[in-house]
Amino acid sequence: MFIGPATSQPFATMIRPASADEQTEMAKLAAQAFVDDELFADVIHPYRKEYPDDTYLYWLPRLRQGWADPSNHYLVSTVERADGKGEEIAAWAQFTRRSAKAKKETAPTPVDVSDLPPNRAASKEYEDILERSYDSIAHEWAGPRAECWDIIWLATSPAHQGQGHGKALVEWVIEKAAEEQVPSSVISATGKDGFYNKMGYTIATSKAWEPESNPMYGLVEGGQFWWRESHLTTKPT
Ligand SMILES: CC(C)(COP(=O)(O)OP(=O)(O)OC[C@H]1O[C@@H](n2cnc3c(N)ncnc32)[C@H](O)[C@@H]1OP(=O)(O)O)[C@@H](O)C(=O)NCCC(=O)NCCS
Repeated sequence: MFIGPATSQPFATMIRPASADEQTEMAKLAAQAFVDDELFADVIHPYRKEYPDDTYLYWLPRLRQGWADPSNHYLVSTVERADGKGEEIAAWAQFTRRSAKAKKETAPTPVDVSDLPPNRAASKEYEDILERSYDSIAHEWAGPRAECWDIIWLATSPAHQGQGHGKALVEWVIEKAAEEQVPSSVISATGKDGFYNKMGYTIATSKAWEPESNPMYGLVEGGQFWWRESHLTTKPT
């Protein structure tokens, strides 16, 4: 499916749904984008200097598993390769349409990832910290905000940052949220609040490491929950 160019950008960006055979390229891009991140580098990948080529093995199984859930939508923003031979992925995003109904349905069957080698760059203690902290933060997507579009992953490759790819992808989810008249949420990585604020995510609620019983408590400083609701004609009650 063709989605088309995001016209407001100084660089020509083209966004479209990702295809499953792009999962490895997407995982490798995320590994580069999050290379200095407080959570994904410092906490989750303490051995990244010894095993720099392993870190994509954090994202690849999660992408495979996420693909099995129809609530997830994967989009890529592409550019022409410098050698003119086809396109490359400059950025990608995972957006999830959360809903009370989807929650009640059975969770997707676990996808077999046993063909992948172990991620030697990862901490055994913290590799699954995000998944373990989920119960502590699930209350954010409840009540009037149970129906929403959530930005789960967003990554622009370091070579293409500052060229409007992140903005074009986020504009896609904002448009969906406006069409469906539901709020949109994101948990901002450290240092990325300004980006999301610019995109209209200005309602700050909790931190993704709260409360004290959260297994992520004390590990990171970032992780602010942001909501965008200015596109709603009626505020959630
Ligand atoms: C955050 C990220 C996705 C932004 O993507 P990008 O493609 O470089 O951003 P864009 O070029 O679309 O920037 C859009 C606007 O936001 C601004 N912006 C980008 N990053 C910003 C930041 N960290 N703080 C404040 N403003 C920022 C840009 O200057 C631009 O402003 P303009 O429209 O006035 O020119 C990218 O830096 C990234 O992948 N970082 C590493 C991974 C990560 O942290 N992802 C987010 C997880 S929550």
